[in-house]
Amino acid sequence: MSDEELVSLRGITKSFGAVRSLDGVDLTLRRGEVLGLVGDNGAGKSTLMKVLSGALRHDSGEIRINGRPVSFTSPADARRERIGIVYQDLALCDTLDVASNLFLGREPKRGPFVDRGKMHRAAAETLSTLHVRVKSTYQEIGQLSGGQRQAVAIARAVSFDPAVLILDEPTAALAVAEVRQVLRMIAEVAARGVGVILITHRLQDLFEVCDRITVMYEGRSVEDEAVADLDIETLVAMITRANSEEAA
Ligand SMILES: Nc1ncnc2c1ncn2[C@@H]1O[C@H](COP(=O)(O)OP(=O)(O)OP(=O)(O)O)[C@@H](O)[C@H]1O
Ligand SMILES: [Mg+2]
Repeated sequence: MSDEELVSLRGITKSFGAVRSLDGVDLTLRRGEVLGLVGDNGAGKSTLMKVLSGALRHDSGEIRINGRPVSFTSPADARRERIGIVYQDLALCDTLDVASNLFLGREPKRGPFVDRGKMHRAAAETLSTLHVRVKSTYQEIGQLSGGQRQAVAIARAVSFDPAVLILDEPTAALAVAEVRQVLRMIAEVAARGVGVILITHRLQDLFEVCDRITVMYEGRSVEDEAVADLDIETLVAMITRANSEEAA
């Protein structure tokens, strides 16, 4: 096994009652790599990433981080292994300002009080290193555009210094220019050595930022290809299993 393997998932299964959502999934992520994770609705992408981020326990199979087998019983366990995830619904607090959202739960303190000046300076610095533009860190999240909100959610995850960053459909609801900004952020984070897993149905985005693509179909990982060896028609055929004998 390559020592560059940051994440290795082997034979992951997960059932919800009679529904088998994951049926022996393999996935590999290397350092500094952007991996696209694609598949039809219900293929099991989000479920797999919930397993990797400790939000769900799998039934069988192995998770290795840096070659070491791990067992997650909670998201806190996964965070300790420096696995960060941004869910599609973002989990930001609309009525708080940008800086408070970035530092929610770990605000810089001066004695018993939040050091607001310090928090806003740190927020401005974090955003500027990621080239995220907001008018002010004092703006309420609810006033931001969808793209700015997404950027703040990613910046928050990045500020925890993850080794692995999982983004579940970060561009689904965004306008063109906002998509550009999120893709730029992804490239920038990967350039720092973070392994990024990007779930998206926008296949054209994959060709811009991904190094490799893993395709899921009905709870299984069915393809794993370098982007350089793929084109969009081939990828669509892989996702729909158009050329496969296994296709229903
Ligand atoms: N908590 C749950 N209870 C029961 N079934 C679930 C649960 N979570 C997911 N599933 C089922 O597992 C399967 C995979 O769902 P999942 O959300 O992982 O798909 P997905 O690939 O992320 O799809 P999409 O692209 O639509 O987001 C689906 O059939 C879904 O109904
Ligand atoms: Mg999903």
